[in-house]
Amino acid sequence: MSKARAELKADSIGICASLATALGGVVNELKLREVVASDLERFFEYQRDPEAARMAAFTAPDPDDRAAFDAHWRRILADPPVPIRTIEQDGAVAGYVLAYESDGVPEVSYWIDRELWGQGIATHALNVFLSQFAHRPLRARAATDNRGSIRVLEKCGFAIVGEERGYANARGEEIAEFLFELVSGQADTTTRLET
Ligand SMILES: CC(C)(COP(=O)(O)OP(=O)(O)OC[C@H]1O[C@@H](n2cnc3c(N)ncnc32)[C@H](O)[C@@H]1OP(=O)(O)O)[C@@H](O)C(=O)NCCC(=O)NCCS
Repeated sequence: MSKARAELKADSIGICASLATALGGVVNELKLREVVASDLERFFEYQRDPEAARMAAFTAPDPDDRAAFDAHWRRILADPPVPIRTIEQDGAVAGYVLAYESDGVPEVSYWIDRELWGQGIATHALNVFLSQFAHRPLRARAATDNRGSIRVLEKCGFAIVGEERGYANARGEEIAEFLFELVSGQADTTTRLET
């Protein structure tokens, strides 16, 4: 992937229904909704989290640049070619899931609040997103060492269809990433959706 393309992707990722699921005996309510201005405070903190940014790899060039962040989100929310949704759990912002166009094909991305990792939120949110966004083909990318994101994609029906190299701002170097395509419209059968 070219540097320009990496920047486009970084630009997009820097910005990645309702279901109830039983988690450890507690029923948590998850829903996708439109992004509102106050969500951006949280999204900016996600971007500034070094551990999460390292994982995502293809992030904004300067994670602390609030003006660039605001300009980016203003632009994508003004005319989103494909959906951008805030993930809410129990009424609180838990992350976002979105699609952006790359070479005319939508690619999905997502980011979950680090405090909430490992609860199945990304998998559930992406499954709901896929059920609401019918456009196919649909692609995704993940750094080859982003095991969490790779697993989320696989659980949601994506398969690896290629591998590319691109400049990763959060790593300060070129790294490998997998290119995924949705091969099954079905949610992971082990994921119980109650919408
Ligand atoms: C990747 C990310 C979205 C995963 O979110 P999450 O809500 O914790 O994911 P889930 O709980 O749905 O986990 C799904 C699967 O991935 C696995 N997984 C999650 N994080 C993992 C990690 N760091 N290492 C290995 N496996 C991981 C889970 O164990 C689960 O697999 P299992 O069902 O077989 O046990 C989250 O870590 C994140 O936002 N990271 C920073 C941003 C990012 O990388 N976005 C994706 C860019 S491509």
